[in-house]
Amino acid sequence: MEKMPYRAEMDLQVVFPPPQQEVVTTTDWRAGLPVLSNKGVTLRELRITDAHSLFAMLTTEEVSRFISPPPSTIEGFERFIAWTIRQRQVGTYACFAVTVAGSDTAIGIFQLRELEPGFQTAEWGFAIGSPYWGTGVFQKGAELVINFAFDTVGVHRLEARAAVRNGRGNGALRKVGAVQEGVLRKSFYRNGEYLDQVLWTIIDEDWAAQAVWQNPVRTH
Ligand SMILES: CC(C)(COP(=O)(O)OP(=O)(O)OC[C@H]1O[C@@H](n2cnc3c(N)ncnc32)[C@H](O)[C@@H]1OP(=O)(O)O)[C@@H](O)C(=O)NCCC(=O)NCCS
Repeated sequence: MEKMPYRAEMDLQVVFPPPQQEVVTTTDWRAGLPVLSNKGVTLRELRITDAHSLFAMLTTEEVSRFISPPPSTIEGFERFIAWTIRQRQVGTYACFAVTVAGSDTAIGIFQLRELEPGFQTAEWGFAIGSPYWGTGVFQKGAELVINFAFDTVGVHRLEARAAVRNGRGNGALRKVGAVQEGVLRKSFYRNGEYLDQVLWTIIDEDWAAQAVWQNPVRTH
């Protein structure tokens, strides 16, 4: 999530998505994100109406302190959501809403963006409302997004950055089998200071060998 590409100042034009986006039957993710489900956790495309719940879930201090500042208003989240859909349409980025069994309320997001043209190398990020921490929602959603990245988008190398101080973020990445490659010194500016970040990666061979999320203790 750190340094993911959305910036409010980039968002001068608000384009609301068409209402039919909720049901996606195409196999091309650029035309509409698929609905992905894993044992009670469902990922789907964001909708403008998710702004209220995402504002409530993602703007708390505990959720936002180690990530790029989220929008500070519901209207800001509406602009962010419209931006995510435009970026998906041009094929450089995908953002999923996280929902749990029995509810369609967005309680978090998973983001995936290309780091070079062609999406061979990508970065993923995530934020989930704190009432759902430690419940397994992250891991189930992460499995879906990792599969989506390698299987559907065709990613070769999947990177994630987590502030060294972000214990849960690093613990979560370790859990799904990401490999710690190093520390990016003073690479993330937040709350008036530069923070060191851990660089975590998953490569397609790890995923194909099913080493991902089955070998949670690797940190080398
Ligand atoms: C990151 C996030 C999505 C993970 O979801 P979660 O439900 O908290 O994750 P989980 O509980 O499944 O996994 C976290 C792991 O880190 C461990 N952990 C918690 N605090 C830790 C710490 N200080 N140091 C090391 N590990 C820690 C937990 O024990 C857990 O491992 P376990 O299940 O084997 O016990 C969620 O915490 C979040 O949204 N945080 C705020 C946003 C954020 O920081 N996103 C960027 C991450 S790079």
